[in-house]
Amino acid sequence: MKNGKVAVAIVGCGGMGGGHAVAISTGSGQALWMTDGSKGRELEPGDTDLTKKMVLAGTFDIKEERQEWARRLGFHTYNSFEEILNDDEVDVVLVATPNDDHKELSIRALRAGKNVLCEKPVMMTSKDLEDVMAVAKETGKVFYPRQNRRWDKDYLTMKKIYDEKLIGDVFHVASRYHGSRGIPGDWRGIKEKGGGMMFDWGVHLLDRIVLMIPEKIKKVYCKTTHITNNEVDDGFTMLMTFESGKTATVEVGTCNFINLPLWYMLGTEGTAVIQDFEDKGHMVKVRSWEDKDATPILMGEGLSKTMAPRKADSVDDLPLPDFTYDRNELYSNLCDVVLGKAEPVIKNEEALRILRLMEAALKSDELGEAVDFE
Ligand SMILES: NC(=O)c1ccc[n+]([C@@H]2O[C@H](COP(=O)([O-])OP(=O)(O)OC[C@H]3O[C@@H](n4cnc5c(N)ncnc54)[C@H](O)[C@@H]3O)[C@@H](O)[C@H]2O)c1
Repeated sequence: MKNGKVAVAIVGCGGMGGGHAVAISTGSGQALWMTDGSKGRELEPGDTDLTKKMVLAGTFDIKEERQEWARRLGFHTYNSFEEILNDDEVDVVLVATPNDDHKELSIRALRAGKNVLCEKPVMMTSKDLEDVMAVAKETGKVFYPRQNRRWDKDYLTMKKIYDEKLIGDVFHVASRYHGSRGIPGDWRGIKEKGGGMMFDWGVHLLDRIVLMIPEKIKKVYCKTTHITNNEVDDGFTMLMTFESGKTATVEVGTCNFINLPLWYMLGTEGTAVIQDFEDKGHMVKVRSWEDKDATPILMGEGLSKTMAPRKADSVDDLPLPDFTYDRNELYSNLCDVVLGKAEPVIKNEEALRILRLMEAALKSDELGEAVDFE
């Protein structure tokens, strides 16, 4: 502890670790990248001011340029990982290295008596996470998976629509991230480092979908793409069937020059959509299923009444629900868990289920057929 606050040291001060350093030191919970360095975002109503709960002890990176970057922004830098472990003031080691280092660094930190906040995907395999969970249990320290995209506004909006049945009972959800830049030219293109889009983005999208639909997943079908390279997946499409028969598709694409909507949700009384990364979207709710307004339209070389668009007086076009929430809940909860004041909002068992789900997806991809899951 430092001045009564939870002290965090970061190992791996690259894009994400650097972002954490700014986020924690400014209390903002998120870094905004600037041409001349970096600064934190403004706090909004509902956000915890992290400067009241946590403090940045320092950072360590094996690359000297990242050490210099941290010093330039005024952060303390450690000369080695060992030095972090030997700093009695450090409560939490934040692991933000490429994925293949997460296991070793986390175990070393736990064994040195530190709590660990670990970047996603927390481990390369479910077996690795089981091993780390065993060490956390044995040492009595906290291992906390950073599944941060549960706090994205687009997801929380869709979850609210789902939970509050704003378009009736939801029977299908589609969640997507589309971009057109292929696999980043760093370790994300290398299999042994834990590269590929399933590990990079799939982990987030799946974490959110399974929280939204709290049911057993019966079947998983997945097809990965290798448009830009043969080493790692540069995208995938996945279909999940839940116990009640609800379905979800999750898709990540990096060769999409025209994006499909981020979210598309179908309910028994309407449809909701979020179009883009700026969270633009709306809901359309049916007033009456009676098709008195249906007049056939010309579609190509034929007529259709079934596909005739709705007239304005048979549906309501509604804005997405708005709400405030604590965008910094993850960091804030971590502090409370470390101090023994709260249960973790993100459970290791949840991270384990996601790793198993990704393994099932990749198995399906390999077999070319759907696989049973739970
Ligand atoms: N949760 C999120 O939204 C999110 C977003 C981006 C990245 N991440 C995760 O954060 C982690 C890092 O990703 P990134 O984009 O910052 O990668 P990056 O390549 O930008 O940074 C990784 C840094 O770790 C350093 N490093 C490697 N091995 C090290 C070691 N043994 N000790 C100390 N430093 C070491 C590298 O020099 C590099 O500077 C990955 O696990 C990634 O999946 C999470």
